[in-house]
Amino acid sequence: MKIGILLSGRGSNFKAIKSAIDKGEIPDTEIAVVISNKADAAGLAYAAECGLKTVYLNHKDFDGREAYDREIVKHLNDAGVQLVCLAGFMRIISPYFVEQFRNRIINIHPSLLPAFPGLDAQKQALEYGVRFAGCTVHFVDEKMDNGAIILQKCVPVLEDDTEESLSARILEQEHKAYPEAVRLIAEGRLKTEGRKVKII
Ligand code: GRF
Repeated sequence: MKIGILLSGRGSNFKAIKSAIDKGEIPDTEIAVVISNKADAAGLAYAAECGLKTVYLNHKDFDGREAYDREIVKHLNDAGVQLVCLAGFMRIISPYFVEQFRNRIINIHPSLLPAFPGLDAQKQALEYGVRFAGCTVHFVDEKMDNGAIILQKCVPVLEDDTEESLSARILEQEHKAYPEAVRLIAEGRLKTEGRKVKII
């Protein structure tokens, strides 16, 4: 299976996926391309260091969201990508993109969806006062943080948590959940029935 990674920053989830592939934990899978909308994304630099194919695309060079996404889709197709992993990609993707890779785009979000979609999910969780937080790997559809849920991992929220400490606790679980979800897809072990994803 050929994966395309889209990222905008640090790229720790990308690294977790790559490391699981390198360790042989995800069968018959390779990262075919890493694409970023930020030239200075640490994840993009790391991908280049690893000798992976990298692409930087500045949205300002394109006339609108769909034109930008058409270029991304072109790069993904050129690289033969079968599964797109959004890994801290800080852009809303267009219906065109979703349609081109229907049920083949996944994302990780730092909350137990459907709670706290959107930005600053960990801060939202702290401010709400929930006792448990976590992360969700889900398929991507036209609505933000909305698609069918593949996996979730839960962490406690502690009395003296700050946004940083809670984010770090969640991130540790993200690095387990994302490679695990990619492995389930690589092994053909997900069966989608409407909103529900069964692990078989
Ligand atoms: C993660 O918290 C992820 O859940 C969210 O963006 C962050 C990306 O972090 N979508 P990284 O770039 O993978 O380190």
